[in-house]
Amino acid sequence: MVSFSSSANALRSSEIRRLLSLATRPDIISFAGGMPNNDLFPIKELDDIYKSLSDDLKKTGFQYGPTPGYPPLLESVKAYLKRKGLNVENNELIITTGSLQAIYLIAKVFIDPQETIITEDPCFIGAVAAFKSFQANIHGISLDENGIDIALLQQALDNPELTSKILYITPYFHNPAGIIYSQDRKNELIETLQNRDIILLEDDAYGELYFDEEDKELTTPIKSVADEVLSICYTGSFSKIFGPGMRLGWLLAPREIIEKCSLAKQGIDACTPTFTQIMANEFLMQNKLSGYVSMLRKRYAQRCKKTLAAMDQHMPEYCRWTRPKGGFYIWVTMPEHMDATKVLEKAIDRGAVFVIGSAFDPQGENNHHFRISFSHVDEDKIEQGIEMIAAAIQSVYS
Ligand SMILES: Cc1ncc(COP(=O)(O)O)c(C=O)c1O
Repeated sequence: MVSFSSSANALRSSEIRRLLSLATRPDIISFAGGMPNNDLFPIKELDDIYKSLSDDLKKTGFQYGPTPGYPPLLESVKAYLKRKGLNVENNELIITTGSLQAIYLIAKVFIDPQETIITEDPCFIGAVAAFKSFQANIHGISLDENGIDIALLQQALDNPELTSKILYITPYFHNPAGIIYSQDRKNELIETLQNRDIILLEDDAYGELYFDEEDKELTTPIKSVADEVLSICYTGSFSKIFGPGMRLGWLLAPREIIEKCSLAKQGIDACTPTFTQIMANEFLMQNKLSGYVSMLRKRYAQRCKKTLAAMDQHMPEYCRWTRPKGGFYIWVTMPEHMDATKVLEKAIDRGAVFVIGSAFDPQGENNHHFRISFSHVDEDKIEQGIEMIAAAIQSVYS
């Protein structure tokens, strides 16, 4: 057989897939999926929008479109980003097939094999997979409850052996850590990156999902305040505020970067589906987004509260966990000698699943953590599921 490329040979089936394949019982309580809740999708509104489209627009929807995006959607996303304080005039916007594609494009246009991308540790699995597909050297830097560790970041940036071209971060309701960057940490980060030849890749997939209006301020994009002093590529998505099945994300970045990404996108999928772009554009134009997202905030806040209450009541006292102010995730830390894989196996026997910590470690090692996702689980099963996980921890703790 013809040999695979070295980049294909470097791809590995993940341990999580194997573990989750053990959890096929229909009654399993799953805290594993990092996805929105099916019952919250705006299906009625989308039905109405589709019915209201003219035949010409429906036909346009089934046709190829321009690579950078359906022009009316580009305009409405620009207006939306402008309201977040982003400078859309001095940057260029491209619609991508999910924001994961935006992350992939940035890696594709900047990274040669063995060049370094600095990420947070833990880090979003999809981004690590995208970076690895370009044979990047990934250097993970730990997080605390306020964001990335600045001293460690500084060390990495000063290390001449790392040719660090990109720093990738998810500052708002981190997947999997569930934290949001404090204002001070953002300021320190901006100061640390100034006068360095590095791109900040700012992933804002969850920023809209704050639970409390008073935390909205914390979701102000770094790009909206530091665009003049840093080179920032900002990604966002409709996946968590609309539906991942739409496969709609975006990248806002300096013009010359978008030009290269647009060329790269031509060889990947030529354009993002026009159909979902038209639907999303109508949703925005008819001002349906803000009411819908405020409903989501309340519903996810309620699920988070229930999950935390169950954890407070049932989890062993030697475990710690984050208390998210938004998003989908709680990050649990067990004592260092404990292994999340063993806990997961016991939890599956009892009827609950979550994702083990090593899946989010760019080196695949650190495994005394795990991620609880409260977004997709049946609300009335939360307490029972948490009890099962707590019992599983106790059964392996020694
Ligand atoms: C932190 C983060 N960024 C980006 C994405 C990509 O989402 P999408 O490609 O659906 O926009 C996800 C999805 O889970 C995510 O958790």
